[in-house]
Amino acid sequence: MKLVQGFSKFSKEEKINFLVENYLNHFPEAKHILQQYLNDDIKLQRLHDEFIENTLTNFYLPFGVAPNFTINGQNYIIPMAIEESSVVAAASKAAKFWGERGGFKAEILGTEKVGQVHFLYHGNKDELEVFIQSIQDDFRMAVKPITKNMEKRGGGIQSIQLRTKTEDLEAYYQLHCTFQTKDAMGANFINSCLEELAKVLEDKAEKQLSSKLEVIMSILSNYVPNCTVKAKVACPVESLGKTKEEAQAYALKFIQAIQIAEIEPYRAVTHNKGIMNGIDAVVLATGNDFRAIEAGVHAFASRSGKYQSLTHAKIENGEFKFWIEVPLALGTVGGLTSLHPLVKLALALLQNPNAEELMKIVAVAGLAQNFGAVNSLVTTGIQQGHMKMHLMNILNQLDANTYEKEKAIEHFKSNTVTHSSVIEFFEKIRS
Ligand code: MEV
Repeated sequence: MKLVQGFSKFSKEEKINFLVENYLNHFPEAKHILQQYLNDDIKLQRLHDEFIENTLTNFYLPFGVAPNFTINGQNYIIPMAIEESSVVAAASKAAKFWGERGGFKAEILGTEKVGQVHFLYHGNKDELEVFIQSIQDDFRMAVKPITKNMEKRGGGIQSIQLRTKTEDLEAYYQLHCTFQTKDAMGANFINSCLEELAKVLEDKAEKQLSSKLEVIMSILSNYVPNCTVKAKVACPVESLGKTKEEAQAYALKFIQAIQIAEIEPYRAVTHNKGIMNGIDAVVLATGNDFRAIEAGVHAFASRSGKYQSLTHAKIENGEFKFWIEVPLALGTVGGLTSLHPLVKLALALLQNPNAEELMKIVAVAGLAQNFGAVNSLVTTGIQQGHMKMHLMNILNQLDANTYEKEKAIEHFKSNTVTHSSVIEFFEKIRS
């Protein structure tokens, strides 16, 4: 097929017609489906159309809430955008469980963001070091128009350091810069500062250095090991079971499951995936960049050189303690937060948190999710709960009506849900 020219300039209708004619002529419902997901509110649809290029329609995810979270003594109902059946249910259950045991505690460990100007320099290293020190004021002056407002809010550039990387790559150096961005995630602020710093670096180098300096690129880093939050729960071991023995055995098994994820990467990846079920769902509902969060979290999980669990657990003085430490560069201003109506609603539901409060809420959602998953894994296994939630998906695939759904839900309260058992039951009631 010929490459299409000027596709982005086509109207939405022309784009859809082009797709239907060239790629979807074997899928007769295409136009109807694309139209079905459009919003009747023209203004709202235009807003979504303009988030990206070549928008055809909207892509829905369920937007739900997990109630009964107590965080630092305050009650929250947490918004979550996610398609996986059991995630909201598990979060709600964990919230209630820990709410009855004193709730979650969370604290910010740091809020430092990072950005780098990557450059090549073939000259003398000592000369470069002296040069970078000598132009610190020029750097600060050049970014002033960008940093002025951020400084008023208490943020700005913290440090601009030279890092030598010539042992890893010939002639490679960095300006490693740290920032505080207050309630903004800060990507635009950081990248604008870095591009300005890069210009100063090249300009001054041309005049003052004896060898050529070449900037390769300037970009923030999504690895933010000093922008972290800790969330934790604790309770007397005996409150984890009906009897002292049962509670002790449960606590030990739970801790062993966590220890396995601390030492075994195959398990750690799935363990952390479960944590990200909670984290991503809140990150997405509050209009933050979940790809940035994912990338940063997994890099953090491998910071020892080995991929490990983000959560930890122990018994200390008769107390069961369970906690998470995660990097979360989140924002509650800028980006989608003031544009997307559902995001605004999600933030309002959380009583308009600042970035640090949102970091705490998101870390708690991750910890709660992990508690839910590991609790199921070391007791009933996850399939029981998972398949119960998945029952509705199977019934919908079978086009079950309300009566059939009610019957099936009743039946599977006491029977095991499998794909085939649902089909069998469904066929029986249909006939
Ligand atoms: C499924 O989405 C997540 C789990 O696999 C997490 C885990 O195994 O801890 C249940």
